Amino acid sequence: MPTYLITGANRGIGLELTRQLSARGDRVIGAARTPGAADELKAATDFVSTVDTSSEASIAAMAKRLASEPIDVLINNAGVFPDTGVTSCLETTTDMMLDAYRVNVIGPLLMTRAMLPNLEAGKRKLAVQISSNMGSNTEATRVKRTGHLAYCASKAALNMVNTLMANELTDRGVASVALHPGWVKTDMGGDNAELEIPAAVAKIIKTIDKLKPADNARFIDFEGKKLSW
Ligand SMILES: NC(=O)c1ccc[n+]([C@@H]2O[C@H](COP(=O)([O-])OP(=O)(O)OC[C@H]3O[C@@H](n4cnc5c(N)ncnc54)[C@H](OP(=O)(O)O)[C@@H]3O)[C@@H](O)[C@H]2O)c1
Repeated sequence: MPTYLITGANRGIGLELTRQLSARGDRVIGAARTPGAADELKAATDFVSTVDTSSEASIAAMAKRLASEPIDVLINNAGVFPDTGVTSCLETTTDMMLDAYRVNVIGPLLMTRAMLPNLEAGKRKLAVQISSNMGSNTEATRVKRTGHLAYCASKAALNMVNTLMANELTDRGVASVALHPGWVKTDMGGDNAELEIPAAVAKIIKTIDKLKPADNARFIDFEGKKLSW
């Protein structure tokens, strides 16, 4: 039975990933900032862990707790969108940039690094960085995007983190992939999003199931389609 470690597992895409993977019999360690309050997560899996991905100490503590536990697939799903309503780049603040960078860029980097021994001990040896098509320069140019600079720049930076880690981790047998989950009706995606959570997550799981070492460093969407940087 493969083991998954999923961050931000208490709601949205992370919770549904935990539900669907657990329901088919996989072992899911669902990590949340405050698991004590995460009733839906506790109902979805027996394996709950604590991690605040903006805190190096919290990540180190989790790595210590999970030491020597093989992890097949790490899903760095936790994310923030600090500039949701900001439609002009000129209104982006330092705090928005730092919040987005801490959770969306540094968090996945530190998590992947901390869990590397666990991934090496697992069979699939796969890290999935939940990115966004809003981190695509091609897409931003196409739609002439002006707002959400902090979020978009953080996901573009996450894509670069993924590429550089993938270049290096492949020598240790571990693959890393950046995956856009689609525009999904979560707290972050909002009510106007295109995809219902269960349908989007079913496709994400199908795509993750098919990933091979040769997919290392790719930037793909929830259906496995290659995305432009
Ligand atoms: N929904 C979309 O349309 C969409 C599109 C593209 C990409 N994405 C990406 O998909 C991922 C999941 O998004 P979602 O739509 O499910 O968002 P969501 O419903 O807002 O959930 C975000 C999750 O991340 C957790 N989180 C935030 N900061 C954290 C931290 N410092 N440490 C640990 N956990 C933290 C939240 O925990 P708390 O409850 O403790 O805040 C929550 O569990 C994100 O990376 C997002 O950028 C989403």
